[in-house]
Amino acid sequence: MSKVKKIGIGNDHAAVAMKEQIKEFLEEKGYQVINYGTDTNESCDYPLYGEKVGKAVAEGEVDAGVLICGTGIGISIAANKVKGVRAAVCSEPVTARLTKEHNNANIIAFGARIVGIEMAKAIVTAWLEAEYIGSGRHEARVAMIHEIEK
Ligand code: RB5
Repeated sequence: MSKVKKIGIGNDHAAVAMKEQIKEFLEEKGYQVINYGTDTNESCDYPLYGEKVGKAVAEGEVDAGVLICGTGIGISIAANKVKGVRAAVCSEPVTARLTKEHNNANIIAFGARIVGIEMAKAIVTAWLEAEYIGSGRHEARVAMIHEIEK
């Protein structure tokens, strides 16, 4: 992933408040954040938001994505159905860093019912500050992932 400037963010009803806090946190850090919703606590379907942010990342509308639902799992599974997406669910910063270094994850996901706001900020920060290792075995394995899409 080249330098991230513009981040797409999406969530379901379980994560509206956390989304707002993360959006503000990222904006304070100087990122441009595009909100793909939802913005109400009314029950909604997380696949819609996973797909929206997944497509925005895959089509280059944004440089990277953040997805939040109750667990982070459903919304990331949906995003991973979009060709070109590598969405990783993380509940702490070590895996968040490693998923950028090894998998070049272009979407980070987490659960608003699983992690608190400070942990969510630490996860996003670790992922954004990490660098993809790239050449060699990691690059070959990431290429293998996208071969499966064909
Ligand atoms: C919604 O109740 C919940 O299922 C959703 O936020 C998420 O946790 C799904 O993976």
